Amino acid sequence: MKYQESLTYLIEAFGGSDNLQKILGVGPSALSNYRRREHLPFNQAQKLSELAPDYGFNLDPYSLRISPVNKKAKLEILLIITGGIAAYKSLELIRRLQDFEFSVTAVMTESAHQFITPLSVSALTGNKVYSDLFDLTDEQEMGHIQLARKADLVLIAPATANFISKIAHGLADDLASTICLVTDAPIFVVPAMNPHMWANLATQENCRILRNREITFIGPDDGDTACGENGSGRFAETSFIISIIQKKLLSNENLNIFFENKSQQKHLIAKPLAGKRILITAGPTFEPIDPVRFIGNRSSGKQGYAIAAACALAGAEVCLVSGPVNLAAPSDTRLINIETAEQMQQACASELQVANGLQIDCVICAAAVSDWQMVELGDLKLKKSDSGPPQLRLKETPDILSWVGHHPSRPRLVIGFAAETDTLKQNAQSKRMRKNADWILANSVIQSGETVFNSDKNEILFISETKEEAWAADNKQAIAQKLVVHISEYFSSTDLDRNC
Ligand code: PMT
Repeated sequence: MKYQESLTYLIEAFGGSDNLQKILGVGPSALSNYRRREHLPFNQAQKLSELAPDYGFNLDPYSLRISPVNKKAKLEILLIITGGIAAYKSLELIRRLQDFEFSVTAVMTESAHQFITPLSVSALTGNKVYSDLFDLTDEQEMGHIQLARKADLVLIAPATANFISKIAHGLADDLASTICLVTDAPIFVVPAMNPHMWANLATQENCRILRNREITFIGPDDGDTACGENGSGRFAETSFIISIIQKKLLSNENLNIFFENKSQQKHLIAKPLAGKRILITAGPTFEPIDPVRFIGNRSSGKQGYAIAAACALAGAEVCLVSGPVNLAAPSDTRLINIETAEQMQQACASELQVANGLQIDCVICAAAVSDWQMVELGDLKLKKSDSGPPQLRLKETPDILSWVGHHPSRPRLVIGFAAETDTLKQNAQSKRMRKNADWILANSVIQSGETVFNSDKNEILFISETKEEAWAADNKQAIAQKLVVHISEYFSSTDLDRNC
């Protein structure tokens, strides 16, 4: 195949010229130059070669030849659906897991059939649904041992009190419970049941037994349950389930379970934000008072940098505009260092100006931008004088979030933070409206007696036009991961709407 032909082929393979330009970070003229000159710079070819498995093939960066991707590149989730009202939620879960490039095979218990049909599950997973321990065809095609062994992870969602009790006591009277005994993959349990059943000592004792066996529980959530009662027992949020699975997969102690070596890790981790361009602000700004002094704040940049790292890991092209901090640029991000709010705005402006014809998809303003700057700046250091301290004349800095939110090239998704000392929710809601942000992540300045600035933890109240969610206190990386899950879900549903 001639080089030129392979470029035409690549354009198709990477979803068309627009997408390929986005991936390569070039405009239409550069792409047609590559084709005319029959030459793709090697660093660009390498970039494509790294991304190719996300598009379902391998690419040799030297010859630009395409070959089928190794099937094992997707993590195999064996989803066990047990019989509760929340079983229908497993359908949404399957769709989301697939957005994150997990391959899902489902096993349904007999009572799960009362709530959803194997046909709908199989239509979504694209795989046969297994139910019967003694089905000879299945035993020939794939016995319960192989089914359990093939899984990288077993997810029981929803898990009823009955099923939890069965696996706690090692029963193996159906396919689903037998698999739990056979598998050596990690098991995750998403309980969903009536609040009294969940609170019952027998259930709690069974959960304790399973937790001691290193089985991970996700949820249940508090709130109104399908049976009309209120309390703990709701099926956890889909985004939360995925964030926990991702977090476990990404945490070092578990890597060996899933990846034989670190170099495999890169290809196996799902890239739900591949092809998306994200601009992130982080850290403080320093507004000079004179050549030696400044107005600043205690932001360490930890939260913004964690978000940048998580977005890059999820495959986004990340530009991080950062005030002065003591952190290294996260890998695979482009870092622009600035000091003042005006410089931060200029850096964001040149990214938004779409100089190379490409649109930013999402902006995340995590920076603690100083609200004030000096009206005038002298060249000389302010001196002490007999007439007392100097009267500093201040004016407002540009509000970058509000400016992006009202910008003619407004990205599809604009996200801000709100750091508040009081009336968190109301202040955050009014900031979201005023600054025309889609989402605000509100964090209280003081959390558990510590200031959120420079600490390793954060606790968030997520606010959008239609919903509010309290994100429990966790480390800033986990908060970043959770945000990535939300962003990915947003894009996967709005991309779908756009393509329909
Ligand atoms: O950096 P860390 O030590 O990890 O701490 C994290 C953090 C507390 C700094 C972060 O979680 C956070 O809350 N960042 C926003 C802090 C802030 O300035 O909040 P605000 O309520 O004053 O501003 C609201 C929003 O407007 C923010 O998205 C802010 O980036 C943006 N803003 C504010 C003023 C301004 N001139 N320009 C802006 O873009």
